[in-house]
Amino acid sequence: MAGEGSYRVDALIAEDIGAYLERHQHKSMLRFITCGSVDDGKSTLIGRLLYDSKMIFDDQLAALENDSRRVGTQGTEIDFALLVDGLAAEREQGITIDVAYRFFATETRKFIVADCPGHEQYTRNMVTGASTADCAVILVDARKGVLVQTRRHSYLCQLIGIRHFVLAVNKMDLVDYDQARFDAIVADYAAFASEIGIENVTAMPISGFRGDNITAPSANMPWYNGPTLMAHLESIDVDSRREVARPLRMPVQWVNRPDLDFRGFAGLIASGTVRPGDGVRVLPSGRTSTIARIVTLAGDLPEASAGQSVTLCLADEIDCSRGDVIAAADDPPEASDQFEATLVWLDDAAMHVGRAYWLKLGTQLVSATVRQPKYAINVNTLDRLAVKTLDLNAIGVVEIATDRPLVFESYAKSRALGGFILIDRMTNATVAAGMLHFALRRAQNVHRQATDIGRAEHAALKNQVPSVLWFTGLSGAGKSTIANAVEKRLHLMNRHTFLLDGDNVRHGLNRDLGFTEADRIENIRRVGEVSRLMVDAGLIVLTAFISPFRAERELVRAMFPDGEFIEIYVDTPLAVAEARDVKGLYKKARRGEIKNFTGIDSPYEPPEDPEIRVNTSEMSVDEAAEFIIGKLLPLK
Ligand code: ADX
Repeated sequence: MAGEGSYRVDALIAEDIGAYLERHQHKSMLRFITCGSVDDGKSTLIGRLLYDSKMIFDDQLAALENDSRRVGTQGTEIDFALLVDGLAAEREQGITIDVAYRFFATETRKFIVADCPGHEQYTRNMVTGASTADCAVILVDARKGVLVQTRRHSYLCQLIGIRHFVLAVNKMDLVDYDQARFDAIVADYAAFASEIGIENVTAMPISGFRGDNITAPSANMPWYNGPTLMAHLESIDVDSRREVARPLRMPVQWVNRPDLDFRGFAGLIASGTVRPGDGVRVLPSGRTSTIARIVTLAGDLPEASAGQSVTLCLADEIDCSRGDVIAAADDPPEASDQFEATLVWLDDAAMHVGRAYWLKLGTQLVSATVRQPKYAINVNTLDRLAVKTLDLNAIGVVEIATDRPLVFESYAKSRALGGFILIDRMTNATVAAGMLHFALRRAQNVHRQATDIGRAEHAALKNQVPSVLWFTGLSGAGKSTIANAVEKRLHLMNRHTFLLDGDNVRHGLNRDLGFTEADRIENIRRVGEVSRLMVDAGLIVLTAFISPFRAERELVRAMFPDGEFIEIYVDTPLAVAEARDVKGLYKKARRGEIKNFTGIDSPYEPPEDPEIRVNTSEMSVDEAAEFIIGKLLPLK
């Protein structure tokens, strides 16, 4: 029993701290998440686990001790009620911020429990807490049974890939330890669990408050023969063991030279086992080699497996860098640049279809755009909904395209190679958590065709260095007029140019697009792609589009090598553009006859660091054009 157990541990610490630490270090670690609301007795249960294990290394307790209340860790008696009060209060204060992680240990295992708020508006917290958990403890109040939130929490945990579920029917003391009540709840939950694909559920009747079936079998429920909660948590197989049995995958974190003869690839082995002499394949390039050495700080190893951080040296000098994956040669993962995935949207700002986000999958970082969701999921009813975007806490299935191939496995197979996050390129905020399903076939079957006459040949014949002069600014700022004047000068200088103008392109290629955010994003994406083709053809391209969003201008910039994309900010204050109102559009917009008009009811995000900025309230068109040409020289 835990009481005796912790006494023995205390004695061991007193006698031989070295031996104690050694034993502690080799215990396995189980991460689990508790789901339920405060009313279900979550704080009480967590308090009970901490209290009964008596081995608590927790900031909470330190804080309580500082409070000079009578609480202690090992050896000292902990006041259970005080502990639970403290935990509940802390959760309520921290509720909007994050997930509380607590650490405790028993004789045989270490535990980290993620405690997160349960309301729907905290879906993102739950997803965070669940993302590293091996097991979910779903708390149900015996008096209330399975509730909408029980289903929502279970669904989220299953979605995030948790494989072990504990249905803890709590507060059994308040239903007179009634077996029929327990059986009815278990049957109800089992039906729902199998519907959503949860396979492994262990149900147990408990009372967190009274301590029934927590660490000791309850005398109040002789009809229950299963394990106690603690015994069950001690026996669950942790995911890392499962990973060892899978084929080798090691995402490369960095490249180093353990000694001068060898290049080594350092990383955490995500799955499988590796030994010197094993054949490996580096992805996405597909090149093969064999393992020469497995290097660690403690010396070379004869073998390493999932969960270990090592440096692998290969027998051949082949290209391999951060983000690549070293895998079993005969059983490698796939690489692709188009996927179907589930997204959990974590940001206050809704998802922008077509916008480029950073996608981080393990050590891989690529630029990714999301298409309109196929559907979103109502987390309470599990119904599929037709939606145009995903808002905070929404869950949906989308298609994603990346600018470079990603090495991946389906999330169902591998959290390490199937789980990713999306990051806003401007704010650096994590905006979504994602789970890859599969690669889209069209990506696999469309390959790039190599041609003999490329951009270098085209440019050489024209005797110029191709580039894009990207004019941005409000409607009526003077983009088209100045771009036109610059093009005339370049033409006189025998440069081969082409001017893409918003109003013209919107009559042809982009005539299907309006002025919603999504349409503007698509407008700029297409213009970026056309510019790239024209630059490949050797031209100096001038574009005149409002291009109001920084993210899309940066997306286009990223399509070109450094120095080829020149952002020119035609800086005209709104008042000046509106006073000019060459096309009479501002007047209409002010009268409410045009919706989403830039500067009026649709935003313009000025460039933060453009290559060139012209202030049209100070310069005439000709002066602005001369100024730009001056800046472009030495333009070859
Ligand atoms: S962008 O925002 O998608 O880059 P683009 O440069 O192609 O815009 O088109 C802007 C031109 O469309 C303006 O110069 C104006 O003539 C016209 N226009 C029509 N409706 C709008 C609107 N709602 N907002 C801005 N420009 C509009």
